[in-house]
Amino acid sequence: MKLIILGPPGAGKGTQAAKICQKFDIPHISTGDIFRANIKNNTVLGQKAKEYMNKGELVPDELTCDLVFDRIMQDDAKKGFLLDGFPRNIFQAEKLDEVLENRNLKIDNVINIEVDDKLLIDRATGRRVCKDCGATYHIAFNKSKVENVCDNCNGELFQRDDDKEETIKNRIEVYNSNTKPLIDYYNKKGNLVNIAGEKDINIVFEDIVKAVESVK
Ligand code: AP5
Ligand code: ZN
Repeated sequence: MKLIILGPPGAGKGTQAAKICQKFDIPHISTGDIFRANIKNNTVLGQKAKEYMNKGELVPDELTCDLVFDRIMQDDAKKGFLLDGFPRNIFQAEKLDEVLENRNLKIDNVINIEVDDKLLIDRATGRRVCKDCGATYHIAFNKSKVENVCDNCNGELFQRDDDKEETIKNRIEVYNSNTKPLIDYYNKKGNLVNIAGEKDINIVFEDIVKAVESVK
């Protein structure tokens, strides 16, 4: 199963992606996570990506596309994959189509999570992430059992640098101008499913599973 998860910053893509990938046993390919891992390891890519991410801007396509295309050609992605955070604009979507078509592959479903702008800011400012395993929590909506400690691995929770209110507002603007047109792009291809993302995390997940399984 080859899936894309779309939605504005804070819509719950990463939260749902972890659950979907566990259920369907496919790799979770998140460009945001790949960049953050590179920043943590202070690689050349990380140093370049950080400049853009901290302002809430998109990292340039030439630093992003090949990285994803190499990743989806690895052995563990042969059974399928979930792309989270990619594509982010029409150029990336067209390049992805080209790469898949050349290999006679196609995306089965594009899951579009819909959440109102006002809620996105609360979701992102309250988000906390485990520094060891990357699990995502929220200080009000999805608390860890012990404050600032990860339920899975006891790692410490931290706030992402780009989760400050001003940066989030810019990320939402960048989403509206660059990424939102992808909804129309995939709608025309006929493989988009819209999911109401303001419900409880487990209900959103059930809705996604139903939608994906019904078109399998
Ligand atoms: P990326 O990491 O992709 O961030 P994003 O798209 O802005 O998405 P987020 O991670 O902020 O949100 P999410 O939808 O995953 O929400 P989450 O599940 O955490 O990208 C970061 C940056 O990297 C970009 O700004 C860009 O610079 C760069 N980048 C990445 N990909 C790129 C590309 N392809 N091209 C160019 N640049 C790229 O949930 C949010 C919070 O809400 C959490 O606290 C969670 O616990 C809570 N929550 C989730 N669901 C619910 C629910 N149903 N009810 C209540 N709370 C919920
Ligand atoms: Zn953890």
